[in-house]
Amino acid sequence: MNLWSNKWRAGLLIVAALLLAGCNPMEAWSLHGHQSSVNPFGPVAQKQYETFLVTLWVSLAIFAVVGGMFLYCLLKFRVNEEDIPKDAPIPEQGHGNPLLEIGMIFVSVLLVAIILVPAIAGQMYSGTVPPDTKRVLVKVTGYQWWWKFEYPELGVVTANECALPVGVPVEFHVQTADVLHSFWVPALGGKMDLNPGQDNWLWLQADQPGDYWGQCTEFCGKSHAFMRFRAEGLTQADFDLWVANQKADVKEKAPAELLQNQCGVCHSLRGVPGAQGQVGPDLTHVGSRHAIMAGVRENSEENIKDWIQRPEYHKPGNVMWKAGYQAMKIEITDNEATTLAKYLYSLK
Ligand code: CUA
Repeated sequence: MNLWSNKWRAGLLIVAALLLAGCNPMEAWSLHGHQSSVNPFGPVAQKQYETFLVTLWVSLAIFAVVGGMFLYCLLKFRVNEEDIPKDAPIPEQGHGNPLLEIGMIFVSVLLVAIILVPAIAGQMYSGTVPPDTKRVLVKVTGYQWWWKFEYPELGVVTANECALPVGVPVEFHVQTADVLHSFWVPALGGKMDLNPGQDNWLWLQADQPGDYWGQCTEFCGKSHAFMRFRAEGLTQADFDLWVANQKADVKEKAPAELLQNQCGVCHSLRGVPGAQGQVGPDLTHVGSRHAIMAGVRENSEENIKDWIQRPEYHKPGNVMWKAGYQAMKIEITDNEATTLAKYLYSLK
């Protein structure tokens, strides 16, 4: 068989595999995407990144040595089948070299130790919240497919977007309202699974102000990919303003369309009579969020209207569509959707 054609085939296969995996090399190599874990913005992410680097370098060294020896043997002892005489003797059979074998065991143990030390140190670091009087506590609840964020000590309840004062450790306790989910903010650290009946927790800290994207990272049903969120790093002064704003009730008068369409059965708008539902995201300050649909689309009046009109298109299988529109036979007209979107977007 022609060796060159095989090489070409192998090369094409690798390129095809990269393309089919949706991997844009230019983007992958810049490593600065919104959900990059190799571009840390907080101490926990930094620690995890450093541990990853140790593992990476050790693995690369092993790969280079083993791959190098393999390649060397391939080239040095390469023989064409036709060149082997029919009566060639079988090479001398041995039982290996005990010194080499024991040496390999030692080298393996040493390499594992090199990886293990920073890994255990990292575990201990991320498993202990640094003592800080300003430490913030956040209770996270995962739903199919959105996130509830509660700050029990500050009296804040919100959805799909949480705020962190920069330079302050934030302790997240994660739980689920239905199936398994997993909480991950790649730029800040994580992840942590949301297991039914279990109080799992992690702490994260943002070192500088910014909009950090999060993602559910445990398959949790049809719209798992659309279960995103944002963690926003704010200066202490901005964080205090954020808390004060989030605690406030709705001041704007609700349009009749809100209650006519049963929105309040599932959604809470604090300060609006008849809107105390706990099934869906709290909408008290929905207009103040960067994104809607659990981090999927930028927040705008048009996008809110689009979501109200066709939730099933944006998030297949979602509860608002199934248990709301379909089960309760709700039909929202274009005019109603416009009014609702305008109102909701005004809730800053
Ligand atoms: Cu929640 Cu995947």
